[in-house]
Amino acid sequence: MTQGAKEERRAKVIEVLNQARSMELQAIHQYMNQHYNLDDMDFGELAAKLKLIAIDEMRHAEMFAERIKELGGEPTVSPAGGVEKGQDVEVIFPFDANVEDETLDIYNQFLLVCRENGDAISMKLFETIIEEEQAHFNYFDNVSDHIKKLGASYLARIAGTPAEAGTMSGGFIGNQGGA
Ligand SMILES: [Fe+2]
Ligand SMILES: [Fe+2]
Repeated sequence: MTQGAKEERRAKVIEVLNQARSMELQAIHQYMNQHYNLDDMDFGELAAKLKLIAIDEMRHAEMFAERIKELGGEPTVSPAGGVEKGQDVEVIFPFDANVEDETLDIYNQFLLVCRENGDAISMKLFETIIEEEQAHFNYFDNVSDHIKKLGASYLARIAGTPAEAGTMSGGFIGNQGGA
């Protein structure tokens, strides 16, 4: 096997790791923006969850960066896209469920790229993160469902709840006792 082929395979893995990192950087900003908006709208409990999930995405961005560095690459600082601002509470949760659903699909494809190019460690990294994105999807989908089915009465129960995420700096996953 030539050195060139090995470098080529490594470059393909770095490429998908960086694309994933870009998606994480976009998600961090999107979820932080929703955290502040939900807090403004006084949906404290939902705001706190968005904050924790943004922290999870930051952890993911760092995990991808660490692996990229290990492979000799340069972690990107560019988000994959911009932030949707001023979304209503009814819009946020189906929107985020869709973000996570797309992410699951794309990361599963990236995992295959890692496998095809013989990188078991990057493959395992995607596997770990995919599990966490699935937990995010489940949460967003669940809230989205509640809002759709129960509407005002569900939202009235949330209104005025505390927005404190407390000492739960481990993020959403950490608070559930880990992935
Ligand atoms: Fe993520
Ligand atoms: Fe996520």
